Amino acid sequence: MKIAITGANSRVGQTLVQHILDNSEHSVLAGARSVKSLKDLPQSSRIEAAAISYDAADELAKVLEGADCVVHLAGILMEGKNSSYRSANVEATAAVVSAAKKASVSHVVFISVIGADVNSDNAYFRSKAEAEQLVANSGVSSTIIRTPILLGPGAAGAAAIKWASGSPKPKLLGGGRYTMRPLDIDDLCVAVVNSCQTQPNGSTTHELVGPQAIQYCDLVKMAARMQGREVEIGSFPIAVAKIASGVKGIFQKGGMSPTVIDVITMNEHAEHNADAALGVALTPLEQTLQKFITQ
Ligand SMILES: NC(=O)c1ccc[n+]([C@@H]2O[C@H](COP(=O)([O-])OP(=O)(O)OC[C@H]3O[C@@H](n4cnc5c(N)ncnc54)[C@H](OP(=O)(O)O)[C@@H]3O)[C@@H](O)[C@H]2O)c1
Repeated sequence: MKIAITGANSRVGQTLVQHILDNSEHSVLAGARSVKSLKDLPQSSRIEAAAISYDAADELAKVLEGADCVVHLAGILMEGKNSSYRSANVEATAAVVSAAKKASVSHVVFISVIGADVNSDNAYFRSKAEAEQLVANSGVSSTIIRTPILLGPGAAGAAAIKWASGSPKPKLLGGGRYTMRPLDIDDLCVAVVNSCQTQPNGSTTHELVGPQAIQYCDLVKMAARMQGREVEIGSFPIAVAKIASGVKGIFQKGGMSPTVIDVITMNEHAEHNADAALGVALTPLEQTLQKFITQ
């Protein structure tokens, strides 16, 4: 099977490419906006790197020709100078589904987020929900996997935990009193490959979360203890952080914003965890932390 991956240079993308190499016979078409950004991918005759543009669906279709499945990973939580929720989350997805259709790719796997909702007050959650709808209504079979915060070496969420658990008195937004369901990126990779191998009739949406619900402050304490330290958690008021990032946003587009703060401080909750349906044996949280806190 040939699996095309968009955003193959993303944290999830790089882990997924290695996972496919290590655990399957599949070949990979690794797509990113520049080939240079794919330089850290492993060298293998089973991996082909391709520069892709989301502005040219015809060209994108040519690149995708011959793929059995497209895993669409390109997407952002933090907007930047040249990347908005509209361009990165909605328009890029529209281009990918249109190109997949043109190239007769029979299955799209899309990574979305817990909380995606077209009626949300939050622009990030709305954009991911819009993208889900584009995928689900594309006419191509699709598997949508909604995920919580993803943890693994090099992940942004992991870096934040490492920083906080390494400081004696870390100040967390709202004292870290919000509940997360952290998912190991390796577990997501298992789910994605299993999904590629099981094409649904029409479109199916799953929520896949980690094995343990935990408040962020307790997650930081747990990570600190695993390093032989105790931390005293302080609190930075969420409202103040939102005002400060909102003011900063007037002068400088992107980065931390009130939208991002709402996302990272929300309570993650799944109605039904799809671990069994997606063939995933969830990694215990402590084992996931172990993979990156000592690096
Ligand atoms: N990390 C998490 O905790 C988490 C949680 C829930 C869902 N997800 C979803 O999982 C996927 C992968 O996440 P990640 O954390 O591995 O991502 P990441 O490392 O932050 O990488 C982001 C990817 O999006 C691409 N991108 C940025 N702006 C773009 C644009 N305007 N058009 C097209 N592509 C653009 C980047 O390409 P360039 O390098 O070219 O900019 C890069 O490939 C994303 O869809 C994300 O929303 C992640």
